[in-house]
Amino acid sequence: MDQRITSEPLTTAPSTAQPIRIDAGSSATPSTSAASGPVWSQDSAGSGSDRPGASKGVVFGANDVSVHYGSAPALVNVTLDIREREITAFIGPSGCGKSTFLRCFNRTNDLIPGAKVSGRIDYHAQNLYAKDVDAVEVRRRIGMVFQKPNPFPKSIYDNLTFGPKVNRMKVDFDEVVETSLRRAALWDEVKGKLKQNAYSLSGGQQQRLCIARALTVDPEVILMDEPCSALDPIATAHIEDLMRELEHDYTIVIVTHNMQQAARVSDRTAFFTAEIESEDDDRRFGRLVEIGDTSKIFSNPTDKRTEDYISGRFG
Ligand SMILES: Nc1ncnc2c1ncn2[C@@H]1O[C@H](COP(=O)(O)OP(=O)(O)O)[C@@H](O)[C@H]1O
Ligand SMILES: [Mg+2]
Repeated sequence: MDQRITSEPLTTAPSTAQPIRIDAGSSATPSTSAASGPVWSQDSAGSGSDRPGASKGVVFGANDVSVHYGSAPALVNVTLDIREREITAFIGPSGCGKSTFLRCFNRTNDLIPGAKVSGRIDYHAQNLYAKDVDAVEVRRRIGMVFQKPNPFPKSIYDNLTFGPKVNRMKVDFDEVVETSLRRAALWDEVKGKLKQNAYSLSGGQQQRLCIARALTVDPEVILMDEPCSALDPIATAHIEDLMRELEHDYTIVIVTHNMQQAARVSDRTAFFTAEIESEDDDRRFGRLVEIGDTSKIFSNPTDKRTEDYISGRFG
């Protein structure tokens, strides 16, 4: 479990895994291989670009990223870095593209018909959307946890061995099950009932099981889309404690509509908004307003729109 293989290129997945291709969109065409360098004039991630946060280890560099559903823009021109072993929170009003943007980081937008990602996202300075990148391998390295716990209708044990089996990992399954449950702070609660159906667990336990399941394939990054919104305050506190633990070993990006949660758990916060762009029509595009240290965003934001949002005057 501790043998990280993140230094290997993303194109080394088993040959049986089918790369999933994406339409690169019209505003910019990502280069076809990681070696051919960025499309824009900016430096690529990890090489000291002018993006905020570029000094610390950078896992993702998003450069001028836009996402359209059909011809409708959902999110436009987002440039930011995600730093390693930090928790980055995405906040902003409903519909501003937080989930859409989060999905860009493990290419799950590729699976949504009509979704088109343009711009560039580097993962360890490698173009995540290059033609030869294996999207299946991307999703192994960059796991995801959703709003509603979604365990498989199988035993707790089988939920945790599924990923390693699909990925043909040569591991001791008992060990993977125990290690991932311990990491997700669930072992003590379920060690005596591993053969029980996952649905027999409480909502909070199911969500920790889903986090444990994400850990079984040895990811580097965990994307969480409002992981506590279906949970009560005690279960939420458990997940928040867990995130703080996991941060030592993993890079976490969390979407949350709960500003207190962003303030409590995250190191950096990105505030997005969706404003009406012109008087002629009422179309809204999500945009990044600012990103910074969470303490600064919540105490002394640079942009008035952030201040209005966090003080509850808007959204
Ligand atoms: N699968 C989809 N098909 C079409 N439009 C979508 C889809 N998912 C999201 N959208 C649209 O994209 C915009 C951003 O949505 P979303 O990323 O879910 O925002 P948030 O997570 O901030 O609430 C919204 O206008 C939403 O209606
Ligand atoms: Mg959302």
